[in-house]
Amino acid sequence: MSDLLYLMEQRRSIRRFENRSVEPEKVEMLLQAGLLAPTSKNSRSWEFIVVDQQDLLQKVSLCREHYSGFVANAPLAIIVAVDPEKNDAWIENGSIASTFIELQAEALGLGSCWVQVTRRPHNERISAEDYLRNILYIPDNMRILNVIAIGYKAQELEPRHVDEVLLSKIHRNGY
Ligand SMILES: Cc1cc2nc3c(=O)[nH]c(=O)nc-3n(C[C@H](O)[C@H](O)[C@H](O)COP(=O)(O)O)c2cc1C
Repeated sequence: MSDLLYLMEQRRSIRRFENRSVEPEKVEMLLQAGLLAPTSKNSRSWEFIVVDQQDLLQKVSLCREHYSGFVANAPLAIIVAVDPEKNDAWIENGSIASTFIELQAEALGLGSCWVQVTRRPHNERISAEDYLRNILYIPDNMRILNVIAIGYKAQELEPRHVDEVLLSKIHRNGY
């Protein structure tokens, strides 16, 4: 098995983190991974917002009513914002950069979890995007794809394996 496939098997969504910050060199490597991601027409239409202040992480964790609360206990979050005017494939551009960051996290011995922001409500009045836009001063032209919570793992999850069920998803020379 290749090193990369091994890493992909090991990566799981981690939602519990040790009370320990991520070293600045590792934060830089996570960001470099995002910056090295391919983009449509090399548009590099993303921006990465690094949050490592506890009070701000607490506020970020409230972006959604459910499925985001664990961000409050992460030492680090990277918010991926993308400019849809620069390139219409903004979801793809942001998603690939996010995936690179998550794989780099695993390679650095860190855990991570994607929190969906686009198309999710904060409450019945405003979107999760607008909530984050306000607290992080993100310009109106940017769409906010997700929050990636990152930190040292405080939970162990079984690695994934490609089994017979998943192999049935592969179709050769036609569906
Ligand atoms: C597009 C996308 C959106 C996700 N949104 C959330 C989320 O809002 N909250 C959360 O806790 N996990 C979220 N996840 C993590 C998934 O629940 C997780 O990847 C999935 O259950 C598979 O588990 P694994 O990552 O451990 O293999 C998201 C993952 C993706 C790819």
